[in-house]
Amino acid sequence: MRLAGQAKMGYYPTPPALLPLLCKCLQRGGAGLLRIFDPCAGEGHAVKALGEHLDAITYGIELDRERGITAQRNLYECLIGDCQTAMVSRHFASLLLLNPPYDWSAAVGALDKSERYERTFLRDTVKALRPGGVLIYLIPLRRLDRKVARMLSHRFEEIRLFRLPDELYRRFHQVVVFGVARAKLKPDEAVHRYLVDAGAGRAVVPPLPEEPDFVYSVPPSLKVKPLVFRTNEIDPEELEKELASQGLHDRLLEMWSPSRNARKLEAIMPLRSGHLAQLIACGLVGGVVRDRDGLRPLLVKGTTKKEVDRRIEHEKGKERHIETERFVITVNAYDRDGCLITIQ
Ligand SMILES: C[S@@+](CC[C@H](N)C(=O)[O-])C[C@H]1O[C@@H](n2cnc3c(N)ncnc32)[C@H](O)[C@@H]1O
Repeated sequence: MRLAGQAKMGYYPTPPALLPLLCKCLQRGGAGLLRIFDPCAGEGHAVKALGEHLDAITYGIELDRERGITAQRNLYECLIGDCQTAMVSRHFASLLLLNPPYDWSAAVGALDKSERYERTFLRDTVKALRPGGVLIYLIPLRRLDRKVARMLSHRFEEIRLFRLPDELYRRFHQVVVFGVARAKLKPDEAVHRYLVDAGAGRAVVPPLPEEPDFVYSVPPSLKVKPLVFRTNEIDPEELEKELASQGLHDRLLEMWSPSRNARKLEAIMPLRSGHLAQLIACGLVGGVVRDRDGLRPLLVKGTTKKEVDRRIEHEKGKERHIETERFVITVNAYDRDGCLITIQ
């Protein structure tokens, strides 16, 4: 429920007017298959536009079902679920578009340890990006805190920070960070300091230029085999469709239906005590059993288990390992007062 609520609140899609400007900052870095990924895709319009510009295959994850269904139409593949529990191959993407939802991420009862989504999403999804891959990270300027700045400056090089063009910035106070994923983490104190100062309003952040004098080359994607891209959650509607298409629906229904488990064993002649005892012991007859006069009901369940006794015998310098199998019959019965009687 909480996640669903967050999903509604955090929906601030990348402004459409920004998309052509972002495209101008990107170019294909070579021929070959190129995957791009938006872990909180919304309806998928933003990653779709970048995908068309780069001639790339687009992947997304979206928590909100309705938006996810739209994104499934817009993208090559979109999972509906929580990106933080999805299973996604490391380094599978060449470009990561990250415009995290606007909300706190906090475990219930641990508000003091709460972390902004901007931070957790960066930390948790950056591993999907290949070394040399390009990050586009959209966040409100004031969310550029020490921790975010450290993650960015350690993991990325060629970092550039811009605020959205004037009109958009006035409305959203957002900035865009570009970076190229390093092969190995490396601190960069100067970049860290600049980002922290910018987030605190102590450094100038230029607007994203209409005609940028730089361009990021997005490299083709690494071969990833097998490519894992799936959610851990089971969507009941999807499951039902899958079961129906596999023809399993009727069999499962039969297995689950109580009438099958509660089917009664009907004897054609009255049972003798010995027979009854054997059937109880096998677990074939259970439930309420009464004495010969139909009185003193007992709630009975019997089981029979095989146990193996092992012993070693020594004789004339030789060792003999002896295993003896025996069947242990246990009959548990509750009487009317709730007393448990165990016969073994
Ligand atoms: C700020 S919008 C960004 C949409 C899109 N990426 C864009 O740039 O236009 C954030 C999206 O993240 C989704 N979201 C929130 N929590 C999520 C989660 N745990 N996993 C995947 N998506 C999530 C929200 O439903 C919302 O659609």
